[in-house]
Order: sequence, then structure tokens, then C-alpha cells
Amino acid sequence: MIKTERYGKGDFLKTSADDYSDALRKSVTVKNGDISLTVAEYGATILSLKFKEKEMTLGYDDTEEYKKQDGYLGATVGRFANRIANGEFYLNGKRYGLYKNDGNNTLHGGKVGFNAVLWDLSVKGNAIIAEYESKDMEEGFPGNLKVKVEFSVNADGIEISYMATSDKDTVINLTNHTYFNLAGRAENIENHYLTLFADGFTPIDSGLIPTGEIKGVKGTPFDFMEPKLIGKDINAEDTQLIRAGGYDHNFVINGAGYRKFAEVYCKASGIKMQCFTDMPGVQFYSGNFLTERKGRNGETIKKRHGFCLETQFFPNSVNEPAFPSCVLRAGEVFTAKTGYKFV
Ligand code: GAL
Repeated sequence: MIKTERYGKGDFLKTSADDYSDALRKSVTVKNGDISLTVAEYGATILSLKFKEKEMTLGYDDTEEYKKQDGYLGATVGRFANRIANGEFYLNGKRYGLYKNDGNNTLHGGKVGFNAVLWDLSVKGNAIIAEYESKDMEEGFPGNLKVKVEFSVNADGIEISYMATSDKDTVINLTNHTYFNLAGRAENIENHYLTLFADGFTPIDSGLIPTGEIKGVKGTPFDFMEPKLIGKDINAEDTQLIRAGGYDHNFVINGAGYRKFAEVYCKASGIKMQCFTDMPGVQFYSGNFLTERKGRNGETIKKRHGFCLETQFFPNSVNEPAFPSCVLRAGEVFTAKTGYKFV
């Protein structure tokens, strides 16, 4: 069954309700070559990313699950992805207080982050475009922020381009929270080989907030400079791993500009994913907090059934002047780009 609906500024968008019933109700699918991408207006969420008909991401059957469940599956995350210590920051000498939704800290934009708002969807050529206007002081952040996220669907992968402008100085950190599983189904990801082109990472305290230090990965479980099974060191007696229940750390990506930052390989499916970004950091999250839940097509999703590679400014960079700056000045244009390519 094909449904046709009109969205915001968009044209008529065709969505197929065959696959995931209600989950596709307000979403759009674009196909190109080996890739099929479905994005929902709720949270500009990636509902599905298929390579050669194989599902590469975790998801739910029903849109309602995205609203009810934690985990941010597939979501566009903002205005400030990852954690802000003590739910506050200072900008231009002024204190901004935020909603603390993660212990004493703010996580992924606060109470109602960009993952939980409705975006305007449209299609331009092979791209799905999601737009949202975040009001001045929404979730405590200054400035009316216009955000545009363009999901380009290429024949072998997707590229996510972020653009934002604000009418007041503000802070920004946008990412996508897709859980990948290159096996093509929900199952433990410890058997995936990961290469991360990062000589350093930002160690965390017990609240998962970076201590401010950048630590070399050499000789630690965080060394993924050569392909290594995610499961190889994940249960090591290492304070950093114990604090997060596995990997949940920001890696400092080597180099600058749009560059390859990771490769992931699943032997069982033979699928490899190459990851690119122009951002300085990436949160490698091994799905440690994924409690058991019902996923797409009745699959059971459990702890470590997916991994995320969330490109970003470093967590809590609002409060760490030595970290790359996440400040967006009034009138300036913020851009960022991340790509996931399959071979
Ligand atoms: C990740 C974060 C994890 C966890 C997860 C959502 O981005 O690093 O600590 O909060 O989101 O469950």
C-alpha cells in the first residue's frame, strides 16, 4: 500500500506502508542504487537505512515507540548533542540553566530535544531535507536557530549535511544517533571489527562528563587504530570502560576537514561501512544502555545490539574552553557534514 501525504513546505511525498506499518506514516523514503533511506518528520529520525535490501540500523515498528522509548534510535540530536555538565553554561558572561535529564547533567538537548520535535520534510533530487526552527530560549538555549539537515542518498551510502544560523550568539552540537548493525539484524555487535582513526580520546568522570584531558589511546582498550573486534577489550578491568559499561567515549579524530574517521566490518555479512566527517570528535557508543525492547519486525533489541558513531564537538565543550569551540555567533552559518558509505 502506498500512502501519499503533504508535509509542511514539502511536495507530495510518497511513503510505502508495506514494511513498517505506522512507522512510515509521516516519513519519506528515497532510493538510489544500493541504498534506501527513510527519514521521519518526528525527530528527523532515520527509520531505515538499507544497503542491498539489508537493514543496517536498529529501529521500531511503530512511531509511538520512538516517542516512548529512550535510546534516541536514528534521531537527529540537538541543539546540543551529548552531555553538558551540571545543566549549565556561560556565554558572553551570562549563565544559561538547562533541564537536567541525565542525573545532574543535560543530555542530547534537554527535556525535548531536536529528536522529539516535528521537522518539515521535503525532497530535492536524491536528498531528504529536514528543517526546524528552534525558538529563542527553547530548552534554555539563546537565539532563534534555523536548522536544516540534508540527507543525501548516494548509490553507496548517505551524507548528512547540517546547516544552522542564529539571531543571537548560541552554542550548537548536532549529530545523528543511528545504531548500526552490519549483520542486518539486531544482535550483539561485539563481533564487528572497528577501526577509528583517533590517536586520543576524552576520558570521563563518573557522570560520563569529560575530565578535560585528552588521553592517548596507545596501550589502552581505546586503541582502534588498527581493525579490532569491538568485543576484544570491552569487558576489560579499565575504569573508563567500567564507568560507561563499555565504550561510550568521545574520540579525537585525527586530521581536519572532511576525512575518513572510521571503518567497521562485519565478517558474517561481509559488509563494510566507511565513515567520514569534518567534525573534530566522534562518540563511539557500544549500546551499553540499550535495555531489552521490541524492535522492528518483532526483533528483540538488547544491550550492545547496535553501535553509534555520533560525530560531534566534544561533550561538554560549552564548559571546556580548551576544546574546539561549539559557539555559533549571531549571523554566522554553521555547517557540518558526516557520511556513511557501504561496500
Ligand atoms: C549516547 C550517549 C550514551 C547514552 C545514549 C542514549 O549518545 O553517549 O551515554 O546516553 O546516547 O541512551
